[in-house]
Amino acid sequence: MEEVKEHKARAKASKKEVVIAIKGLKKSFGKKEVLKDINLEVHTGENVVVLGKSGEGKSVTIECIVGMLIPDGGSLKVFGDEVADMNAEELKKLRMKIGFLFQSGALYDSMTVRENLEFPLTRVLKLKDEREIQERINEVLEGVGLLDAVDKLPSDLSGGMRKRIGLARTLIIKPQIMLYDEPTTGLDPITSREISELILSMQKKYKTTSIIITHDMECARITADRIMIMNDGKYIAEGTFEALQKSKDQIVKEFFKDIS
Ligand SMILES: Nc1ncnc2c1ncn2[C@@H]1O[C@H](COP(=O)(O)OP(=O)(O)OP(=O)(O)O)[C@@H](O)[C@H]1O
Ligand SMILES: [Mg+2]
Repeated sequence: MEEVKEHKARAKASKKEVVIAIKGLKKSFGKKEVLKDINLEVHTGENVVVLGKSGEGKSVTIECIVGMLIPDGGSLKVFGDEVADMNAEELKKLRMKIGFLFQSGALYDSMTVRENLEFPLTRVLKLKDEREIQERINEVLEGVGLLDAVDKLPSDLSGGMRKRIGLARTLIIKPQIMLYDEPTTGLDPITSREISELILSMQKKYKTTSIIITHDMECARITADRIMIMNDGKYIAEGTFEALQKSKDQIVKEFFKDIS
């Protein structure tokens, strides 16, 4: 009996569940067709990197995932439920499970780092236990290596530190899904690398399922289990970094041309 149970448990653990399922997704703005036919399945604990030229619709895709934009066609399910069919209450619940690091991930400038981090805990999760709140703040700041900054204002921090605090603020609610929109843009190579490694450690530590949009090929190399290449409203190639690096496709080659 025990053996059967154990076998079943093991079988379940090895079968990766689909967390995000996108089929034939379409989205236009006026006459401009941005998403033409997006198809993607992201599995539990997987890091999927999306590469694509500026204006391709990478941000639009993840804005559809969190229900900020309503697609014109196709299907987009998160945890098995169609996002476009969700009511306000259901969307709110979904967003509590998703961490979204915005491309322009701004902090509240008049609040200290501690206050910035308290905000999602008290406003989103409605936590009241002061000790738990402070413990979570310490844990997440330790994770991004910025415990010392807890009483500072964002204006006292460097751009890279602000990015890390932005990341901490997203991670503090322990989201099952993380959507990173250009997490390393505007950072020096060393800080970019630190952020990329942080993304990787979040995946390992919390089994987070992530989509990472980036133009930074080092970030893609470090974080990706799988890369999707977006072109003209569709994904035209997918594979590991190493596999795509060997691709003969002209569009794919363009992304890897400066990689040694
Ligand atoms: N809310 C909106 N209303 C109208 N047009 C929009 C809206 N959001 C995005 N667009 C348009 O959709 C297209 C894709 O935008 P998106 O921000 O997704 O590009 P991107 O791939 O993220 O580019 P980048 O790499 O520069 O961030 C652009 O032409 C943009 O102007
Ligand atoms: Mg974008």
